[in-house]
Amino acid sequence: MHLLIYFTLLLFLFIQASSATTDTLLAGQALAVNDKLISNNGRYALGFFEKNSSKPSQDTTSWYLGIWFNTVPKFTSAWVANRDKPIKNTTSLELTISQDGNLVILNQSTKSIVWSTQANITTKNTTVVLLSSGNLILANSSNSSEVLWQSFDHPTDTLLPGAKLGWDKVTGLNRRLVSWKNLIDPATGVYCDRLDPSGVGQFLLTPLNSSIPYWSTGVWNGKSFAAVPEMAGSDLFLTTTFVHNDQEKYMILNLVDETTVTRNVVDISGQSKQFIWSEGSQDWTMIYAQPKAPCDVYAICGPFTICNDNVFPYCTCMEGFSIASPEDWELEDRTSGCSRNTLLDCISNKSITNTTDKFYSVPCVKLPQNAPEVEAAASASECAQVCLSNCSCTAYSFNDDRCCTWHDELFNIRAQQCSGTTTGETLYVRVSAKDYNRLKNKRKDIVIGVAIGAGLFALILLIMILRIKRKSSGHIPDGVRGFNGIIAFGFSDLQRATNKFTDKLGAGSFGAVFKGFIDESIAVAVKRLDGAYQGEKQFRAEVSSIGTIQHINLVKLVGFCCEGSKRLLVYEYMSNSSLDVHLFRINSTTLNWTARYQIALGVARGLAYLHESCRDCIIHCDIKPENILLDGSFTPKIADFGMAKLLGREYSRVITTMRGTVGYLAPEWIAGVAITPKVDVYSYGMVLLEIISGRRNSCAPSSSCGNLDVYFPVHAAHKLLEGEVGSLVDQMLHADVNLDEAELACKVACWCIQDDEFHRPTMGEVVQILEGRVEIGMPPVPRLLQAMAGSSHSP
Ligand SMILES: *[C@@H]1O[C@H](CO)[C@@H](O)[C@H](O)[C@H]1NC(C)=O
Ligand SMILES: *[C@@H]1O[C@H](CO)[C@@H](O)[C@H](O)[C@H]1NC(C)=O
Ligand SMILES: *[C@@H]1O[C@H](CO)[C@@H](O)[C@H](O)[C@H]1NC(C)=O
Ligand SMILES: *[C@@H]1O[C@H](CO)[C@@H](O)[C@H](O)[C@H]1NC(C)=O
Ligand SMILES: *[C@@H]1O[C@H](CO)[C@@H](O)[C@H](O)[C@H]1NC(C)=O
Ligand SMILES: *[C@@H]1O[C@H](CO)[C@@H](O)[C@H](O)[C@H]1NC(C)=O
Ligand SMILES: *[C@@H]1O[C@H](CO)[C@@H](O)[C@H](O)[C@H]1NC(C)=O
Ligand SMILES: *[C@@H]1O[C@H](CO)[C@@H](O)[C@H](O)[C@H]1NC(C)=O
Ligand SMILES: *[C@@H]1O[C@H](CO)[C@@H](O)[C@H](O)[C@H]1NC(C)=O
Ligand SMILES: *[C@@H]1O[C@H](CO)[C@@H](O)[C@H](O)[C@H]1NC(C)=O
Ligand SMILES: *[C@@H]1O[C@H](CO)[C@@H](O)[C@H](O)[C@H]1NC(C)=O
Repeated sequence: MHLLIYFTLLLFLFIQASSATTDTLLAGQALAVNDKLISNNGRYALGFFEKNSSKPSQDTTSWYLGIWFNTVPKFTSAWVANRDKPIKNTTSLELTISQDGNLVILNQSTKSIVWSTQANITTKNTTVVLLSSGNLILANSSNSSEVLWQSFDHPTDTLLPGAKLGWDKVTGLNRRLVSWKNLIDPATGVYCDRLDPSGVGQFLLTPLNSSIPYWSTGVWNGKSFAAVPEMAGSDLFLTTTFVHNDQEKYMILNLVDETTVTRNVVDISGQSKQFIWSEGSQDWTMIYAQPKAPCDVYAICGPFTICNDNVFPYCTCMEGFSIASPEDWELEDRTSGCSRNTLLDCISNKSITNTTDKFYSVPCVKLPQNAPEVEAAASASECAQVCLSNCSCTAYSFNDDRCCTWHDELFNIRAQQCSGTTTGETLYVRVSAKDYNRLKNKRKDIVIGVAIGAGLFALILLIMILRIKRKSSGHIPDGVRGFNGIIAFGFSDLQRATNKFTDKLGAGSFGAVFKGFIDESIAVAVKRLDGAYQGEKQFRAEVSSIGTIQHINLVKLVGFCCEGSKRLLVYEYMSNSSLDVHLFRINSTTLNWTARYQIALGVARGLAYLHESCRDCIIHCDIKPENILLDGSFTPKIADFGMAKLLGREYSRVITTMRGTVGYLAPEWIAGVAITPKVDVYSYGMVLLEIISGRRNSCAPSSSCGNLDVYFPVHAAHKLLEGEVGSLVDQMLHADVNLDEAELACKVACWCIQDDEFHRPTMGEVVQILEGRVEIGMPPVPRLLQAMAGSSHSP
């Protein structure tokens, strides 16, 4: 008898437990904090999840009711019920259907309602179902097609396939996406993706509090939105439909292949992004991002900042200002921007007539368009006086005889790329006398840097002009523009373009590279990938993803080919070949010191961008002179990035079995521990030494590449300590070298090749050091390298 009861109990428990895997919650049932509903196809789950605050001081854990991707190991939410009302204590909480028929989060001990669907229901008998589309519905129990409330009508930051974005004219419902507050806080953030409220058939990205768009999709033309033909143009993954009738006006994305796991979000960066889950790399792959330039997003860096699309981090404080809340910046919430180091005199002393405040010039910027013009001021000094006489005035400009002033917080200042002909605009920012004097002293040191920078900008300009020319050349034979303007070529196109793969440029780590021409005039480099790689869908997704990564110091992907088992990549052609040719090859023209320093800086910028600009950090894994290409003006461009994603699991095998590049591999590769961006920092350090010395580090002793019998990196670290940098520099330069820069470069290189990755700088720090913005100490001799070189080689 007892046994029977026990059995019944067991059976009951079993039923209870298995009820956790249902997709339905009936009246009278409850879901505990650790339970979840799972959609019939297993794709989505509904339940409680926690987020921990990164601020250790605060009470740390917040709980949310939400829907997430159940098959994705990296927790990713698709919907949050109580985004602005986090739950701090889950004791005696449950999810249930209340007396009035609504789905509620109930506090059992007080019987109080923490959250409710708040639908206007007359039937009391309702049922909750998590559908296979990820839509959570509350329906009439007697008629499940009578939906009383659905999560698709109340989206947070994510649009799932099959969900509508836009208006229901009958109910007045406006479905829009609003970004999270920061990386870990789902609270209502700053940016909104919505249907144009003025009635035009397009979608806008706007700040939440304003209807002024910083980006729009352009008008629906029956097939696609004007500004983003690729949204629908490539129906590889999703089709876009726009519906406008008497009752409704909305956009809907539908899956081409039901098995694709994808999401569209308005990100905290203010961009609209489409991601696809990649089984190969076990990560989300971004296949679409608009607006492309981060600085196009309204007030993205917050007040008193300068946004620069070509560097990373792209937000910096104006001089005389500091990050207001470093903790928030860390989580990519920059709404508080930067604040003054010293309060303005007109505020602290309340004297306007006698203020000691000064203006500090910020040259070479692009100013926001909406500044009020001050008619009265006819000269720059009058303009300054107008601004000085009002304490709320924080900046002025005087360009083309127009005096503009800005009041209170200053937003949307962008860095320009200036050169002899493009000067940009100059902004005069009001600072306290104390900050002004400090900045004036600092600026003297920067002048050199600016001179170098100007040269670089000239190159950038040239490249931009070339790019525009290339674009306007129009017709691409048989190629189809996919996502992000990447062209899908047929194999026969590329055979023709490369003259049947005759002009071989080199044999890279992943396959041979050939020169070709598209449109009979545009030179390209076509890489034929060896071996059997990812399936077609995956490959296309990764190609689209790489296409979104664009930087002056990264080789641009122009197109690809994916036919049968054939996989090819088409890149822009670099007329000056790769760095190794110029450094090591006899008979090559010697790169002068300035060029070398700019190459070192450019490569560092490119790597910093890869590591830090995209949230899903890209580790290059194979930095070496052969992968640093030089364009017509010797601007360095890193090649072969993103290969890890393209090749999936195949990749690490390819990398670690490559013997040729062993001299650049960090010790972690051999130790078999997790790989971080610091492996690239190590390889960069090795390359930097080679740039300085003009010889291979990994030369066998007594070979032609030098008369030293010491492993060069170890030798360099010792010479640096002895203060003899001059002896390390390439003799081909005949001592025509900026020794300060050479010493700085040597220090950076030796820090980069430290055994312990935590001792190495980040690439972002390397950029700052080489730009002379951050000081650096003397590095110790890397012990592992010294040991490897052998004690007999130590000086
Ligand atoms: C949050 O913190 C708690 C306790 O410190 C920990 O058990 C939990 O795993 C953390 N959750 C997340 C999502 O990091
Ligand atoms: C949550 O509330 C219960 C009951 O009020 C209390 O005993 C418990 O300590 C609380 N937990 C936390 C983490 O505050
Ligand atoms: C539920 O009620 C208890 C007792 O009043 C309280 O301690 C707890 O914080 C409440 N939980 C929530 C989530 O409101
Ligand atoms: C709820 O529905 C009733 C009947 O349909 C209607 O009269 C009432 O105005 C509605 N209330 C709200 C808040 O929508
Ligand atoms: C729920 O469905 C039943 C059966 O179809 C119907 O009688 C009832 O009116 C419905 N309730 C509401 C609120 O429409
Ligand atoms: C709710 O509806 C279901 C299905 O129609 C029925 O079995 C159940 O008895 C109803 N419950 C109540 C409380 O009316
Ligand atoms: C169920 O609801 C749908 C949608 O409201 C309605 O069209 C249908 O007639 C209903 N069926 C019954 C049996 O009431
Ligand atoms: C939007 O406006 C509300 C109320 O005016 C304000 O509380 C909120 O901080 C504003 N948000 C932003 C991002 O400006
Ligand atoms: C303004 O106030 C600061 C201290 O707040 C003082 O040192 C300074 O002399 C004052 N300047 C003038 C012009 O009064
Ligand atoms: C302006 O400065 C002068 C000299 O420093 C001083 O005599 C005068 O009182 C100041 N006026 C005001 C309004 O502060
Ligand atoms: C300063 O300028 C602001 C903005 O133009 C204006 O509202 C304010 O009245 C001015 N204050 C004075 C004292 O002129």
